[in-house]
Amino acid sequence: MEIRRPETMERITTKALAEAFIEEQLQALRSQIGDKKVLLALSGGVDSSVVAALLIKAVGQQLVCVHVNHGLLRKGEPEQVIKVFRDEMNANLIYVDAVDRFLDKLAGVSDPEQKRHIIGEEFIDVFAEEARKLDGVEFLAQGTIWPDILESEAGIKAHHNAGGLPEDIASRFELVEPVRILFKDEVRMVGDALGLPANMVYRQPFPGPGLGVRCPGAITRDRLEAVRESDAILREEFAKNGLEGKVWQYFTVVPDFKSTGVKNGQRTFDWPCIIRAINTTDVMEVTVEHLSAELMDHLVSRILTEVPGINRVLYDFTPKPPATVEYE
Ligand code: XMP
Repeated sequence: MEIRRPETMERITTKALAEAFIEEQLQALRSQIGDKKVLLALSGGVDSSVVAALLIKAVGQQLVCVHVNHGLLRKGEPEQVIKVFRDEMNANLIYVDAVDRFLDKLAGVSDPEQKRHIIGEEFIDVFAEEARKLDGVEFLAQGTIWPDILESEAGIKAHHNAGGLPEDIASRFELVEPVRILFKDEVRMVGDALGLPANMVYRQPFPGPGLGVRCPGAITRDRLEAVRESDAILREEFAKNGLEGKVWQYFTVVPDFKSTGVKNGQRTFDWPCIIRAINTTDVMEVTVEHLSAELMDHLVSRILTEVPGINRVLYDFTPKPPATVEYE
């Protein structure tokens, strides 16, 4: 069934409007799903988290969430998904540890597009395997939002949520897309009204291929850990310094080259860690956030002492264009 955003629909800008939307959706979901089961790939991103929270309210244990850990998530993310959805919301959550599987497939692959392709394909394979194990599931929920529909209609990008699943799986399910008519800021309002944690609802954008694109070239486990640990330090310091939610996106990159350093009178030969922090409204043009010298010094010191394999910290001052936000 094709559901369009009505031309006259009021933008959800208040808690009361978000609550009214939730009430309407709960009824619609209950009448669509009845007593059947519904499956959802829950990444922990804003859209799939809001869909999960709505479905838990609407149909409780009839929802089966699958969280695939592909090894490229940020520090603490899989744990937060389990805590929020399984422990606090009592969701029926299948956690799939696919770390070795993904990293083995990616070993030695340095081409950025090939890396993205492997991550996408492997994700579908893992999810399809889980789906095949389940009996009696008739619905597939997705975190499709209104800009996804507009972009796919305009031919800008394939509607990333709709495709990809093998035919034997796709044909088994009817789609459930409860946030399909919402813009991102409205999804966040709804997430807030559903009681999801603020750091989940207002999180910065995170690419589907995750930390994989921040570990340029062939991914190795030790360099990936250096990306994950330095990213965690950066996020912690941004939160402490009131920059969370103010700076649009910030992350670290650990490139695949080494340089000479010295520590305790001994030569070192380690990777640099690059910090990137940017602001934008449309992602087409991006400006660089200028940090205070004090915060810079503190970040450099923490990363150098706490992250193994790093002997140099750099700051990326390049706007977009000419540089893209991500390095791959
Ligand atoms: P670029 O690097 O193209 O990034 O300037 C613009 C925004 O898009 C995000 N990004 C991605 N998101 N899958 C995603 O879901 C991807 O493959 C991908 N590549 C970039 C990036 O983080 C930034 O917010």
